[in-house]
Amino acid sequence: MTHLLFALFLLISACSSTQTKDIPVAGESALAPDKILIVYLSRTNNTKTIAEIIQKQVGGTLVALELEKPYPENYRATVDQVVKENETGFLPPLKTKIADIQTYDVVFIGFPTWGMKLPPPMKSFLKHYNLKGKTIIPFNTNAGYGIGSSFETVKKLCPDSKVLEGFTTGGGSERDGIYLGIKDEKAGEAETQVKEWLQKLKMR
Ligand SMILES: Cc1cc2nc3c(=O)[nH]c(=O)nc-3n(C[C@H](O)[C@H](O)[C@H](O)COP(=O)(O)O)c2cc1C
Repeated sequence: MTHLLFALFLLISACSSTQTKDIPVAGESALAPDKILIVYLSRTNNTKTIAEIIQKQVGGTLVALELEKPYPENYRATVDQVVKENETGFLPPLKTKIADIQTYDVVFIGFPTWGMKLPPPMKSFLKHYNLKGKTIIPFNTNAGYGIGSSFETVKKLCPDSKVLEGFTTGGGSERDGIYLGIKDEKAGEAETQVKEWLQKLKMR
């Protein structure tokens, strides 16, 4: 009888430990929403719109990156400031603090293309936080010129993370007075594209 009970105990513990090991990992199947963080930088809400679509599909915590000292309202002044920051390697300090970053397994990072590069605030984020062992999934909006070197820079700044295939789509063009481009019909199209991409990554 004692042997039988002991055997039963072993069986139950084996089953429960298998369950913990079977928690899905990114790139293989859907993940627990509380393990997903979606961090984005957005000036005119295009990238924010994509971030919200992603959250609607996979859940997770949505965090907007804010700076201690915001960029100027003026587009040209912002472009000039970004050029200088890229030249000097200046990393703008972030007002946004994420205290519990270690609890997330998957970090989506969203940003617009700025000067065909990764915007300096996203560099600040990637350099400030230890993302070792996490799955990083980039997404981007731009004015039609593409991602430039931004996704490559994400990979360089996350050498110890698994960086999955990113998503990019056309957004606004502040230079031409088009602020939010992802709205109405375009928002519906973007949602379809995001769903396809997430399915490909086995995130949904
Ligand atoms: C400072 C700055 C630089 C930009 N540089 C580029 C660029 O190099 N290529 C591009 O296609 N769009 C560029 N854009 C346009 C944005 O990438 C585009 O409008 C994007 O959708 C904005 O996203 P957001 O609304 O989330 O801020 C730039 C915009 C700003 C403000």
